[in-house]
Amino acid sequence: MYAKKSDEQGPSRGRSFGSAYEEKQLNNEVTFIKIDENQDNRSISTGRPTSSEKGIATIIISLKDEVGGLIKALRLFQEKHVNHVHIESHKSRRRKSDFEIFVDCDADYKQLNELTQLLRKHTDVVEITPFDNSTLPDDDMAGVPWFPKKISDLDLCANRVLMYGSELDADHPGFKDNIYLKRRKYFADLAISYKHGDPILRIDFTTEEVHTWGVVFRELNKLYLSHACKEYLKNLPLLTKYCNYSEDNIPQLADVSHFLNERSGFIIRPVAGYLSPRDFLAGLAFRVFHCTQYVRHSSEPLYTPEPDTCHELLGHVPLLAEPSFAQFSQEIGLASLGASDDDVQKLATCYFFTVEFGLCKQDGKLRAYGAGLLSSISELKHALSGKAHILPFDPMVTCNQECIITTFQEVYFVSQSFEEAKNKMREFAKTIQRPFTVRYNPYTQSVDVLKDTNSIKSMVKDIRHELDIVEDALNRLNKHLKV
Ligand SMILES: [Fe+2]
Repeated sequence: MYAKKSDEQGPSRGRSFGSAYEEKQLNNEVTFIKIDENQDNRSISTGRPTSSEKGIATIIISLKDEVGGLIKALRLFQEKHVNHVHIESHKSRRRKSDFEIFVDCDADYKQLNELTQLLRKHTDVVEITPFDNSTLPDDDMAGVPWFPKKISDLDLCANRVLMYGSELDADHPGFKDNIYLKRRKYFADLAISYKHGDPILRIDFTTEEVHTWGVVFRELNKLYLSHACKEYLKNLPLLTKYCNYSEDNIPQLADVSHFLNERSGFIIRPVAGYLSPRDFLAGLAFRVFHCTQYVRHSSEPLYTPEPDTCHELLGHVPLLAEPSFAQFSQEIGLASLGASDDDVQKLATCYFFTVEFGLCKQDGKLRAYGAGLLSSISELKHALSGKAHILPFDPMVTCNQECIITTFQEVYFVSQSFEEAKNKMREFAKTIQRPFTVRYNPYTQSVDVLKDTNSIKSMVKDIRHELDIVEDALNRLNKHLKV
């Protein structure tokens, strides 16, 4: 995800995709609903949901224009004993033939989770705003945008896609190809029905899709040896060995997810389309990488106006297998949880110029580690041509750089190593305004919110235990050396 295309069409075609574009799209497309209890009406807000255990949640579902559809959907609320507070319907802005039903309901977290799972089986859930804390003044997290606290919470935000796979822009190569549109709908539906813990469905890719992948694979592999960083080159052969990366086979996300989990703790989660920067970065906090599973249109194998599985598998996966890079990615994700929209935008921009378009210096030479570069033949060549404008990666500067979406980047940022980039991002994260910090707990796959002395004491206890292990190991080593 968070892609850019690979292309040989020159810089005039619609190209890279990143935070600025997606945030703008988000603001255009997605609204969050607040209940104004005093005025008994609805106000539309671009604010984000906030956290709580119980409150008013808004669910937006999309229904076909058919008799009885709404009654069927509302019966599902009844089945889960969830009370409606307010219901409205509108013509869908996403699909003209559909209606969108806005249901405000009074629910606790467990009910909401169960209800959305049920709804997803029977309807098209467009948007969920878990809770609005404006009605909960006692919550000391009031005003903090909602964020997932445990890995399964990603089920609540991983489907807030900004664009559906079957609804392509008019300039998309597959726009007039009904067979392709149907195929995209198939992938979108698969991703939307996916829940944390489900096995990732193995895809029977068509001959045409394999051919398209093969062209991309072959052309990019001609460049990697001279353009990709050494970590990429180290991991690519492992993917050939364990995940069957080859010119005539599209690797299965299920195999890739298993491989990554063993190497760096990352797992893959299929996604239907673009996520907002906030939702995408939240996945990284849990070492979850949202991946598209469809293949770009066959008419232009070296061009895609959006992320596709070629971009994910060839651009992102080899680096995600690298522990230091995985940690770097996770730290950006953790910094984004509960951050303001402005800060999320800054983090997303840093992500864009590192994970998507980052360069590093190795053995005195420039090398690419950004997935947007490593999946784009033309821009990979350009970035290392000696003609591109290159600056040292500095989050304070990088976060204000414009993410170009219609042509090559105006500037690329270079780091000496992932370690250096990670340390700089860590310092940058300290400047983000949050009344708390978070720590990832790998045992429970959840984030601990450190906002009071008890939570900090608990963390200190864990650190002491870790230090005991270090001390024990050193003592044993000393004894062994003396012998
Ligand atoms: Fe990407």
